[in-house]
Amino acid sequence: MDLPPGPSAPAIWQTMAWMTRPGGFLRRVHERFGDPATIRTYWTEEPMVLFSSPDSVRAVFRLDPAIAPAGQSWEFVRPFAGQHSILLLDGEEHLRERRLIQGPFHGERMRAFAPMVADLARAEFATWRGRVVALERMRELTLGIILRVVFGARDDADTAALRGAIDDTLATVRSLPSVLAMAVVRKDLGPRSPWGRFRLAVERFDAMLFELLARRRADPGEADSMLAVLLDQREEDGNPPSDRHLRDELVALLVGGHDSSAASLAWAFELLARHPAVQARLRDDDPAYLEAVVKEVLRIRPALTIAPRLLLEPVEIAGHTIPAGTQVAACLWLACRREDLWPGASQFRPERWLEGPAPNPLSWIPFGGGVRRCAGAPFAEMEMREVLRAASGLTLRPAGTDPERARRSMLVLVPHRGAEVLVG
Ligand code: HEM
Repeated sequence: MDLPPGPSAPAIWQTMAWMTRPGGFLRRVHERFGDPATIRTYWTEEPMVLFSSPDSVRAVFRLDPAIAPAGQSWEFVRPFAGQHSILLLDGEEHLRERRLIQGPFHGERMRAFAPMVADLARAEFATWRGRVVALERMRELTLGIILRVVFGARDDADTAALRGAIDDTLATVRSLPSVLAMAVVRKDLGPRSPWGRFRLAVERFDAMLFELLARRRADPGEADSMLAVLLDQREEDGNPPSDRHLRDELVALLVGGHDSSAASLAWAFELLARHPAVQARLRDDDPAYLEAVVKEVLRIRPALTIAPRLLLEPVEIAGHTIPAGTQVAACLWLACRREDLWPGASQFRPERWLEGPAPNPLSWIPFGGGVRRCAGAPFAEMEMREVLRAASGLTLRPAGTDPERARRSMLVLVPHRGAEVLVG
């Protein structure tokens, strides 16, 4: 069974392009081979077929998880994410975990977190002066938000201890040479090897988290964090969730929600700095315009490029029969940026969301789709709105003349200079 066409360059070359110039790589693949196209990278052991038209995206999102599990694509996060992680489960187990983890994201409960996010954001922007690398600042801020709102850290001591442990763990997996070294040798060659350092960092982080859970169980306080909501839940047997289970839930929210939000916000600043008219309109504090800005940032720079599923059986997608043992992916990056779906696709134009007609929902898919659509999407959009509103008093200019291109940092695409902006 033939796979759809794709680049014939060796996998090592495709991997380098995928990591260092993912935007250009995906655009060229699409221009040359159309939809679908097959790429080969070290990202996955199997070749990956990318789909980006609304019909094929719908077909990928509707694939039966028994035939096309998504959990296996996250296998490499298992050492940190843990065995209960929603990211790694499929089928019934996944749906059960999803119901639990979505508890804190509903309506009123979620809206109650907005003032906390706004406070943390205002404190952050009060420090912005001169040249700022927005990605670094947004990693700090979004981690601070997760620690406060998700993990329920109550004071500076809690926050500082967890922040240090998380930074150590994530630093190991964010660097490309470390990830490649770990993928090649997942052996503990001592505390100085990448894998050894990573294991130690995870152990330190777990010890701290279990200690926090013990304190919260002893003194639940007000239900003012996602942890408080999760602590209140009952498993199917009526028992409260175990520490291990809670730990894996919190880590799934951290892994899913930290880098993705930081990258999306960094892109927002990179784009705003180059669009003074959009900054000016944001100062009017019009909620519809703010929402349009958030949607447009997520469209033009979706932080995650693909939603992959591994085929265990052959399937037909949009007239193509794809064999078992292949990864199929809805390509979020291409779907959100195709010229035939988005007139003037490469222009950052929030106004497009205020003028009709509404876009096809299967072409705006920064949060993926189907049963695995981002569980934190309502929170992510609220967080972006609050942060951008808190920043609307700043005047931003780009630090360099050329727009920043995308490079990969772990799972997400970030501006290659980290979104350097000049404030004031
Ligand atoms: C702008 C920021 C974000 C973006 C662009 C984003 C995007 C995504 C995408 C593309 C997926 C995979 C969907 C698929 O495979 O079809 C995903 C999954 C997930 N995200 Fe997000 N996300 C963001 C923020 C967050 C936040 C803030 C949280 C939690 C606090 C979160 C939690 C999760 C979880 C738990 C999953 C796994 C869902 C599952 O497997 O059922 N995300 N996200």
